[in-house]
Amino acid sequence: RDSGTLAGRHVVVTAGPTREALDPVRFITNHSSGRMGYALAAACAAQGAQVTLISGPTALDLPADVDRVDVQSAADMHAAVMAAIDTADVFIGAAAVADYRPATTAADKIKKSEGDTQLALTRTRDIIADVARDHPQVFTLGFAAETTDMENAARAKRERKGLAMIAGNVVGPEHAFGRDDNALFVVWDGGERELTQASKRELADQLVALMADRFSQTRAG
Ligand code: PMT
Repeated sequence: RDSGTLAGRHVVVTAGPTREALDPVRFITNHSSGRMGYALAAACAAQGAQVTLISGPTALDLPADVDRVDVQSAADMHAAVMAAIDTADVFIGAAAVADYRPATTAADKIKKSEGDTQLALTRTRDIIADVARDHPQVFTLGFAAETTDMENAARAKRERKGLAMIAGNVVGPEHAFGRDDNALFVVWDGGERELTQASKRELADQLVALMADRFSQTRAG
């Protein structure tokens, strides 16, 4: 095996939003298009990795040489990741996983009434934190999607979730979600690197190169 490449390695990638059902016709979601995660899956496959892409609902075509598992909710995504992780060398969490889901999902369409209403929400499980805790042999690359103080939030999120590496990005109406380009602030144990505005595919190649380098260093010796 070449050092610094992912050839022959199994990489599990999450991408896209999740949908948390309120009833058979309504759900809570976010603006993720899946583009960043699909670009990362393509970049890993181009390096010769075996890639399992666990994808929330997106309108994207499957990249060449990538296996896709389609999911809807955060709970589905958690289960699909855990089913694939035993053989994984690397886990990349690019999905925008819902942090909360409706406390109950109604079997039938919820009827409206005259007054206002309230929604009770329950926390979902943190997929990447569970991978880092229960599968310490897997190299974990997470994302941090922030609207303010992105760099500090990325550093703190990497530590809190116990990740090998994290890529921070600014999100909002003018940034990251759904667009073709992005910019990343990458943090690992002992280093940081800014990857300036570029297409998501170019950034994915740069991020995967950085990650493969760190991955081979953590596996050496
Ligand atoms: O999909 P695009 O339109 O291309 O947009 C790309 C993106 C902005 C969605 C992507 O670059 C990105 O930042 N993805 C992570 C979004 C997110 O949910 O970030 P977060 O800061 O809330 O979560 C931090 C990390 O924990 C992420 O790796 C996330 O996948 C993971 N997580 C979060 C919650 C949860 N229940 N389980 C998780 O694994």
